[in-house]
This record gives sequence, structure tokens and C-alpha cells, in this order.
Amino acid sequence: MEPLRILMVCLGNICRSPLAEGVFIQKSAELGLFAKTDSCGTSNWHQGESPDPRAIRAAKANHFDIAYLRARQFLASDFDQFDYIFAMDHSNYLDVLALAKTEAHRSKVHLYLEFAGITEPRDVPDPYYGDYSDFLEVCKLLDTATEQVVNKMIASGR
Ligand code: 4NP
Repeated sequence: MEPLRILMVCLGNICRSPLAEGVFIQKSAELGLFAKTDSCGTSNWHQGESPDPRAIRAAKANHFDIAYLRARQFLASDFDQFDYIFAMDHSNYLDVLALAKTEAHRSKVHLYLEFAGITEPRDVPDPYYGDYSDFLEVCKLLDTATEQVVNKMIASGR
């Protein structure tokens, strides 16, 4: 069986999406979903950089590691390389959708919390201009969302 290919997208690929990638890797292993997970940013601002030190620390506090990840920008070819493209917020969602040229590509793009069935908040809040406690909050939200998403995928036969 082929793995389900999951791409997490935010703006810089140094805060939210690397945390979402790390949580998804952890949860899919724990709950038994065969997945291949990656993350990227809609911008190229932090291309090649490690995640924000506060994100690395928050991950560590939640027993997973993201220090090895390096930021990259979203590529048009990602539409063919992934089955699910999950945007952390509405702005990322619209930026990725604007690059989609076919209905098949558009149908792969989802707002992550909406897909998880979470209605409040609707966006994963950007912790970049916040402090470490905001990163811990993001981890908590991603943990809840990801548990729902992985269970939903398993229930639908994957
Ligand atoms: P992210 O957070 O999109 O969750 O990685 C940000 C990282 C960097 C910037 C903004 C948001 N920035 O302005 O450089």
C-alpha cells in the first residue's frame, strides 16, 4: 500500500507547519496510519532555515523533534506530489488555491482546522510575533486537530 501523502502549509515554514508536520508524524505512527508528511511555506523568506527555536522547544516539550527540518517554499509540483494539502490559515489557503490550475488540484487543498471539524478558532494562530506560550498553544491545538484528522482518515479506510 502506498502512503497517504500529506503537506502542511503556512507562511514561513518555521513555526506552524513544521509543528503540524511533527505532530502528524507522531500521531499517524501512534494511531497506525501509513502516511508520508512534509511541510512548506507560501513565502521563500526562510528558505533553508531551521524551525524557530521556540517551535523546536515546544515540540521537545511535547515529545517530538522538528530540529532536523529545513524550510522550503510551496511548489506548483506539490499539487501532484501530495494527496492532502493542509493550510494553517485562510491567507495560506487562498495563496495556495491561487496557484492551482485544475479542479483536481483545488480539491486537495483544505483549511486544516475545518477539515478536523474544529470551528473555533478557524485558523491556527500565527505565533511568530508572540512568545513561547503561544507556541505551546499552537501545539495543543494541532494535537487535538491532528488526532481528529488521523482518526477520520483511518475511518475512511486509510
Ligand atoms: P509561520 O510563522 O508561517 O507559522 O512559519 C511565520 C514565520 C515568519 C514570519 C511570519 C510568520 N515572518 O514574517 O518572517
